[in-house]
Amino acid sequence: MALRETSGIANENRSHVRSLKSARQPEFALVAHDYRSQQNECIFLVTSDRSAFTLRPPIQRAAYYRKARSLMNETNTLPLSRRLKEATTSTHETLDQSIMSRNMFATTKGYRDFVLLQYRFHQHLDPLYRHEVLAGIIPDLTARNRFSMLQEDLNDLGEPLPAPQTFLPVEDASVAAGWLYVGEGSKLGAGFLIKLAQKIGFTPSFGARHLAPDPEGRGLSWNRFREAIDHAPELDPTRCIQGAQNAFRHVRRYLESPEDVLMHP
Ligand code: HEM
Repeated sequence: MALRETSGIANENRSHVRSLKSARQPEFALVAHDYRSQQNECIFLVTSDRSAFTLRPPIQRAAYYRKARSLMNETNTLPLSRRLKEATTSTHETLDQSIMSRNMFATTKGYRDFVLLQYRFHQHLDPLYRHEVLAGIIPDLTARNRFSMLQEDLNDLGEPLPAPQTFLPVEDASVAAGWLYVGEGSKLGAGFLIKLAQKIGFTPSFGARHLAPDPEGRGLSWNRFREAIDHAPELDPTRCIQGAQNAFRHVRRYLESPEDVLMHP
């Protein structure tokens, strides 16, 4: 059994896509599948959190549905942080490539655009770091917020702060946790990005404050965040994943058209 990315598979098999809402597990329905009875063809299962599985025939229809059910159960037992990672890996890779292909760490102007992108994204995260329910789940929630560092970074760069934007109405704790997963996870990539920023003169005390690690260190800070959301039964995985995917979509849109972003919750 191979775990594969979904979008290509889903497109390949569009003609076979069917909705199979599962009454027992509505939050984790099979949203697409392709059953072919001939030998030597693959069966693709695509689930609502965009995980996909490939099964090798020969396999009978009844066995196929049994396997589908057990795969869903198996995936449902993964920790939330792992499901978030699996649901957003390809989106993250595309974003990395877009940022790097724009040479944003090669010149001061490119870097300024990167900090503006981060500022716009963190403007939406800022209120979520004060979320009452999440404050009871995630340790040091308010101390994790990097929005004020981004304001200082823009000051260091001599860049006026962009006009405030309409806040996204992210009140649901699960959706908000998905957004925060993207913000907190980006602190891992920041360990690599700060080295590039330093090469063009920006440091944790000038222009690249928001890329510095949390005081306890990147690894520990990330592990504590992951453990907190993995042990919070009140968080709904499907809504967390929606939040994380929406957060990545916003970063992407800010990258592509910084001045012209329509805000959809
Ligand atoms: C604003 C843009 C970015 C956002 C929102 C973002 C988001 C994330 C997230 C959510 C994670 C955690 C993944 C997990 O669950 O383990 C992560 C990890 C990481 N990111 Fe990014 N990222 C961004 C930009 C970048 C860029 C430009 C690079 C490098 C080219 C990068 C490199 C990495 C690396 C190396 C990791 C660690 C992966 C691992 O240990 O498995 N990120 N980032």
